[in-house]
This record gives sequence, C-alpha cells and structure tokens, in this order.
Amino acid sequence: MTMERKTAVVTGASSGIGAELARIHAAHGGSLVMIARRREKLEALKAELEKTYGIAAYVLVQDLTEAGAAQQVHDHVRSLGLAVDVLVNNAGFGYWGPFHEQDWSVNEALIKVNILVLAALTRIFVPEMVARGHGRVLNVASMAGFVPGPLHAVYYASKAFVVSFSEALANELAGTGVTVTALCPGPTETEFARTPQMRDVHLTRRMDSARRVAVIGYEAMRRGKPLVVPGLLNKITTHGLLRLSPRRLTTRVARRLNEKR
Ligand SMILES: NC(=O)c1ccc[n+]([C@@H]2O[C@H](COP(=O)([O-])OP(=O)(O)OC[C@H]3O[C@@H](n4cnc5c(N)ncnc54)[C@H](OP(=O)(O)O)[C@@H]3O)[C@@H](O)[C@H]2O)c1
Repeated sequence: MTMERKTAVVTGASSGIGAELARIHAAHGGSLVMIARRREKLEALKAELEKTYGIAAYVLVQDLTEAGAAQQVHDHVRSLGLAVDVLVNNAGFGYWGPFHEQDWSVNEALIKVNILVLAALTRIFVPEMVARGHGRVLNVASMAGFVPGPLHAVYYASKAFVVSFSEALANELAGTGVTVTALCPGPTETEFARTPQMRDVHLTRRMDSARRVAVIGYEAMRRGKPLVVPGLLNKITTHGLLRLSPRRLTTRVARRLNEKR
C-alpha cells in the first residue's frame, strides 16, 4: 500500500519505536495523529515532521490507562475530520519483578495499555477500514510474546496476547483489503530498556536500534505481512529455538535473561 496522504494514528509516539514509526510514515508522505502523555515530546516531533516532510501532524495528549481512552481517541480523530488508514498500536511498557511482590495497580495499568486499549482501538478503527476496502494495523508485540517470562510475567503474557490476537485477526480479515501485522522486536535501545529495572538485566546487554526495528516493522506492515521479527538472530531464536525447545527449558532461560547481571 502506498502511504502518501494516508492518515496514521500512532500510540506511544513520544519516544522510542513509536517516534521512529511516526518519522517513517511522515517520510512516506502520510499524515499523523500522535498519542502519548508527554505533550512537549509530541509537540517537538510534530514540529520536526511538519518542517521536514511538509505533512500534517496532530498531537493528542492522552493517558491510555484512563477509562474510555480508546473512545476518546476515536472522538478526537473524528473531530479533526480524518479517516484513519493506518493504526499503529505501539504504546506499551514493562514492569520487572516477582509478580507476588509487585504493585497490582501497575500491572493493571500495564494490562490496560498493552492489551485492552490495543484491542479496543482495533475494534473501533478496523470496521471503518473494512468499509473503505483498505487499511493497515501494526501491533507492536515483542519476542516476549513467544515464551513465558519469569520476573516479567505480566509483560510477557501481555505480548503473547498481542501476537495471538494479531495473527488471528490477520486471518479473519483476509480478502478485505485490511491487514494486521505483529511486530516482534528483541531488546531495543529505547527508554523502555533504560529504566532502572531493565538497565542491568542480561537481556539488555545487546540491543537493536529503535530506527532499525521501526524500518523493518513499517515495511512488513506496508506489505501486509502478519508477523515480523527484526534481526536474523532473533528470527532464528523465535522461529527455531523457541519452537523446538521444551517449554520448561525456554522458561528457565527467559528467567536467566531477566535476572540482574
Ligand atoms: N525496547 C524494547 O526492548 C522492546 C522490545 C520489544 C517490544 N517493545 C515494545 O515496543 C513498544 C514501544 O516501546 P519502546 O521500547 O519504544 O519504549 P518507550 O521509548 O518507553 O516508548 C513507550 C511509549 O508508550 C507511551 N506510553 C506508555 N504508557 C502510556 C500511557 N499510559 N498512555 C499513553 N502512552 C503511553 C510512552 O509515552 P508517554 O510516556 O509520553 O505517555 C511512549 O511514547 C512497547 O509496546 C514495548 O512493549 C519494546
């Protein structure tokens, strides 16, 4: 699908992979509605993209954990008079630690952002895409979606939802002109990986750049691929090692990778 003059809604556009996806969409000549909580980051990106690419970018400051957040996004987009061609469900965060010691309210917020809002936005925008006969959904999952993740249990489980949901929906929508892509990065150099919780775990010793991950994810979405894992080593791990190894073993390895160095 050519992205020129196509409108994309990008959640979590204020940093990391989401900001890079917004940049790539703008470079293709598409307009944007960019959503996150940090206004100054979104406004800076809006100014950068409008100046560099001459496209229209709109900022929506929205905490996606708030009740009715997905509907508020839809109402805002409608008030701008825009039809959404591309939905990028990228906003998400992790929460490290043993589950039984964690603050439940943080995990509840995680489930809202990583799962609930992603599904609700998809439910709201996809019917309009189907009616128009074209559309793209890019759901940012993770390699974490393919394995249980001790010390990051709710985050890994949330990404398993995203992978499964996206692949099922891609199948349901075949022939409609609307495609769904699950982007499954490995450890990526963003604010996510720089939190005090994540900085010192084995997993973040080697990381991909957010730009590279976004370029690969965006291209897969444009071509309508159901699933993409950026990086050869990550591909071999996901499609080979994780499928062939006993689940108990991969769970133990995941735990080791989530432990402090
Ligand atoms: N980095 C990795 O190693 C890695 C690996 C695999 C998958 N991922 C996934 O990639 C996606 C993007 O993460 P990232 O690595 O780019 O991290 P990031 O730089 O921390 O970006 C996360 C984005 O989500 C937004 N966000 C978080 N909570 C929100 C809320 N309650 N309401 C609205 N927006 C919210 C943040 O914006 P505000 O703070 O401004 O609200 C920010 O724009 C996530 O889904 C993550 O799970 C990351």
